[in-house]
Amino acid sequence: MAKEILLTGDRPTGKLHIGHYIGSLKNRVKLQNSGQYDSYIMIADTQALTDNARNPEKIRQSLIEVALDYLAVGIDPEKATIFVQSQIPALFELTAYYMDLVTVARLERNPTVKTEIKQKDFKDSIPIGFLNYPVSQAADITAFKATLIPVGDDQEPMLEQTREIVRTFNRVYQSNVLVEPKGYFAPAGSGRLPGLDGNAKMSKSLGNAIYLADDAKTVTQKVMSMYTDPKHIHVSDPGQVAGNTVFTYLDIFAPDKAKVAELKAQYQAGGLGDVQLKRYLNEVLEAELAPIRERRERYAKHPDEVYEILQAGSARANRVAAKTLAEVRDAIGLNYFNN
Ligand code: TRP
Repeated sequence: MAKEILLTGDRPTGKLHIGHYIGSLKNRVKLQNSGQYDSYIMIADTQALTDNARNPEKIRQSLIEVALDYLAVGIDPEKATIFVQSQIPALFELTAYYMDLVTVARLERNPTVKTEIKQKDFKDSIPIGFLNYPVSQAADITAFKATLIPVGDDQEPMLEQTREIVRTFNRVYQSNVLVEPKGYFAPAGSGRLPGLDGNAKMSKSLGNAIYLADDAKTVTQKVMSMYTDPKHIHVSDPGQVAGNTVFTYLDIFAPDKAKVAELKAQYQAGGLGDVQLKRYLNEVLEAELAPIRERRERYAKHPDEVYEILQAGSARANRVAAKTLAEVRDAIGLNYFNN
């Protein structure tokens, strides 16, 4: 039986952090290694340009950083197709056809887009390309006939939009060329890593992130600065575990659950200092991040090899997407000369 096709991607607007790692990268590596899927991983540089058109250098730099982050966490070009969105012309032509099937009002109602428009503070200057990115995302997914999209649940409206486009296309052109995707959501609670400052979200703009590219010393400094219980002043004071970011991280990262339970009890009773607790978290993080960092450094010394991997992945992705595009053109009836 043919394997289920899985597609994910990230906009390259900076380096990836351990929030991305916990929220999606780790899961992608697991899915890739299960051998059950045909995985495509896309660096969505054109999507990143939709609100960075005047700053292409940022996207160009971030592309290689994201590629390094992928390889560092164990995304394996032998097992998954890593490719670059802007290098797949079929995606843009598909986007153009899908745009005719979606209304401006529908895009303006898309909750993910709505939230982002607010965050980015475009006011009256929303770029058309930005508003349209759910349509281009439908092209990304359908070009590969992907059925499974491992994303955060905030992306569900994107998938719904894609399914609508698929259904409309297949109905209007009486075809079965396009395939509806499903989301693959990580089990509840495993998803989101808070920022170092306790903010619910780790992000570059909030300055509360640990990057996969951070060296050991930087990670230690960041861990030592983490938000704990502001009322826990003396070692002997009883401390709060709930809402204490250090414990949230330990719950996610520490393999030794019994030890974490013991530390929690000790912290709540009084007698465990923040410094000691943070040293333990630092050890735990280091055990997970050191091999990732080493792999990243190895690839970073050979950027030519990284670009070759992206080129080979893009060539493969191009063949698949071009085939779907030919079917789409046929379905619409744009095959004037080839038969
Ligand atoms: N929207 C994703 C992001 O915000 C990137 C992306 C583009 C994507 N096309 C996709 C994700 C298709 C999943 C499927 O970074």
